[in-house]
Amino acid sequence: MVTLRNGREIEGLRLAGDLVARVFEMLRPRVRPGVGLDELDRLVEEFLLASGAESPYRGYRPSAFVPPFPGTICASVNEQVVHGIPSRSKLRGGDVVGIDIGARLGGWVGDACYTYPVGEVSPAARKLLNAARGCLEAGVAEVRPGGRLGDVGAAIQELAEFHGYGVVREIGGHGVGRKLHEEPHVEHFGRRGRGLRLREGMVFTIEPMINEGGPEIRLLRDGWTVVTADGNLSAQYEHTVAVTSDGCEILTPWHRHMTESAASA
Ligand code: MF3
Ligand code: CO
Repeated sequence: MVTLRNGREIEGLRLAGDLVARVFEMLRPRVRPGVGLDELDRLVEEFLLASGAESPYRGYRPSAFVPPFPGTICASVNEQVVHGIPSRSKLRGGDVVGIDIGARLGGWVGDACYTYPVGEVSPAARKLLNAARGCLEAGVAEVRPGGRLGDVGAAIQELAEFHGYGVVREIGGHGVGRKLHEEPHVEHFGRRGRGLRLREGMVFTIEPMINEGGPEIRLLRDGWTVVTADGNLSAQYEHTVAVTSDGCEILTPWHRHMTESAASA
C-alpha cells in the first residue's frame, strides 16, 4: 500500500531531506584526489550525529542472505553502479564517485545521491554525468497528481537511450517515509500512461543509474557493490520527491547548490 502523507508529515520529510542536501554541500570541497572513502564516510557520520540525525544505511540488511551494510554512506567509484562500501581506498583525479546519503531525523527519512567528478575528468565522463543528471530532472518533471509512474520511467529511459546510454533495470527508486524503503517501487524505464497513478501526498525517490555502456550489472562478492557488467562508467543522481496538489516538491534540494562550475578547483 502506498501511504499518502499530510502536511505535517511532509514537513518532517522536508527537514530530513534538507539535511541530506546540506551534507552534499559540506562534502563538495572534500571530494578530491587523495581523500579516502572512509574519511568521507566519517565526515558524514559526524555531520549527521551533530545534526541530531542518523544514517538509515548503516547496518541495513535487506534479507538474511545479505551482510549488514557497513557504512554511513554508499560510495560508488567509476564502474561501480550503487552500494559501494566506503573502504580505505582513495579517490584519484579523473574518477567519478556517486555518494548516496540517507538521514533519519525526527523519525523521517531523506534519501539522495550525487555523482561528483574528482579533479579533472574526461570529456566522456563529464558528458555521462550531465546526461545522468538530466535523466533525473526529466523524471522529476513528470511528477504530478494524475500522472503515472510509467511517465517517469519513460522520460528517463528515452533521454538515456537518446544519448546511447543504458538504464539499469534491476534496481529502482522507492517510497520513503518513516522507513528508507516503502512502496511504491519506482522503475527508471517504462511506458507512458502505465503504472501507478500519482496522488498528492505520495513520497518516493527517483534515482536512475545510467551506464556509459550496456544496462547489465553484476554483484561483487562483498554482497553489496554493484558494478557494470561491461566495466564501463556508471552515474547516479537521486532525489526524494513529494507529489503536491499541482506538481512536485523536491525534498532533498541539493540541486540549488550543486553546480559543477562551483565544484571544480
Ligand atoms: N539510495 C539507496 C537505496 O535506495 C541506498 C541504500 S543503501 C543501503 O536503496 F545500504 F541502505 F542499502
Ligand atoms: Co534510494
